[in-house]
Amino acid sequence: MTAPTVTLPGGTWTLGDLVVTRFGYGAMQLSGPGVMGPPADRDAALTVLREVVALGITHIDTSNAYGPRVTNELIREALQPYPELLHVVTKVGSCRDEQGGWPPARQPDDLRRSVEENLQTLGVDVLDLVNLRLGNAQGPQPEPLTAAFETLVELQQQGLIRNLGLSNVTAEQVAEARAIAPIVCVQNAYNLAYRRDDHLIDELAAEAIAYVPFFPLGGFSSLQSKILSTVAIRRHTTLISVALAWLLQRSPNILLIPGTSSVAHLNENVTGARLALSDDDLTELDKIGLQTH
Ligand SMILES: NC(=O)c1ccc[n+]([C@@H]2O[C@H](COP(=O)([O-])OP(=O)(O)OC[C@H]3O[C@@H](n4cnc5c(N)ncnc54)[C@H](OP(=O)(O)O)[C@@H]3O)[C@@H](O)[C@H]2O)c1
Repeated sequence: MTAPTVTLPGGTWTLGDLVVTRFGYGAMQLSGPGVMGPPADRDAALTVLREVVALGITHIDTSNAYGPRVTNELIREALQPYPELLHVVTKVGSCRDEQGGWPPARQPDDLRRSVEENLQTLGVDVLDLVNLRLGNAQGPQPEPLTAAFETLVELQQQGLIRNLGLSNVTAEQVAEARAIAPIVCVQNAYNLAYRRDDHLIDELAAEAIAYVPFFPLGGFSSLQSKILSTVAIRRHTTLISVALAWLLQRSPNILLIPGTSSVAHLNENVTGARLALSDDDLTELDKIGLQTH
């Protein structure tokens, strides 16, 4: 990996046997509308991925379900041979139907196939980190995970996966998985306005397990709040910068994977996340979460 042009905000975090920059990149936005099919501008998507690496980011989040296959294939095309320091994190547990839905694919055979497909589309012999994604679009659901998680542990023992994580799960499911094998991260929906996992984040921090919020900027509906606007105006910056800086300051185990299909936005986000929020800013921003609880 060539020397990064800037130092990333947040420093690094150790995910099992991987060291990653806390400022990562979520690749979901690179496939077509509705996360289906190819991007409108393939070259632009490849350029974003190369810029991610040029900035020194060493954590890319993806899934073979994005496209499907599209995002993984873009990553491979843009970045192979992969820089040694770069780690690509993928997830299994859902597939895609013809309507663009995300039906569960959590039977042992589904999971083995999905791991194989991720290895193939990313063009690697071993996956750095695989998250078992449970629940549905409404969030985590009370479902057993033992059979699915044990299947991934077997694949890890066979040398196909280095580290395991969970996504879209409850605290109870985290405990259930950890009774079977170690996990290095939990990837759930969380942002300044959606703070259901506040306790879980603190519990994971105490165990040195990373928390990786998806939808850090609000996902498909961008974050809007009067308080957020007031703080952004006072600090002469954007809502997005405040939202990212807040996550980095919220807890040291939070890793960022903001999604973007734009090189300009990627650079803005890296710069914006450097903002040092004051105690007064943080007290005010906390009220957003209270309003939306
Ligand atoms: N585990 C799961 O179930 C799950 C679910 C969803 C997502 N994820 C992961 O989490 C990552 C992040 O989530 P996400 O991408 O859905 O949502 P997000 O990061 O909250 O928001 C992405 C949206 O913000 C826009 N954006 C980013 N930077 C911007 C800027 N500087 N100015 C204006 N707009 C900006 C992007 O548009 P532009 O493209 O125009 O910049 C895009 O529409 C995904 O990429 C994916 O890897 C995981």
